[in-house]
Amino acid sequence: MQSRSVAIGGKLNRIQAALEASDAVQCGMCFPGMVVSLTHLLATRREATRDEIRAALTGNICRCTGYERIVDATLLALAET
Ligand code: FES
Repeated sequence: MQSRSVAIGGKLNRIQAALEASDAVQCGMCFPGMVVSLTHLLATRREATRDEIRAALTGNICRCTGYERIVDATLLALAET
């Protein structure tokens, strides 16, 4: 799966929009993997905790932002479901 394929009709999906709104994207190098992992999490675990979000990101290494904004964006996307 590619991160582009999770967009809906050419529009950002919930997690993509939340990551953008939360200023969680910097260089973008890590984001294809982040988007795919978090899209799966949102589809399968609607009440994910911060720890579960961090666990879902295991294997995706961001060298720019740390993970706080990414986790915050995921919680925002979950709250909008
Ligand atoms: S945004 Fe640069 S590595 Fe994650």
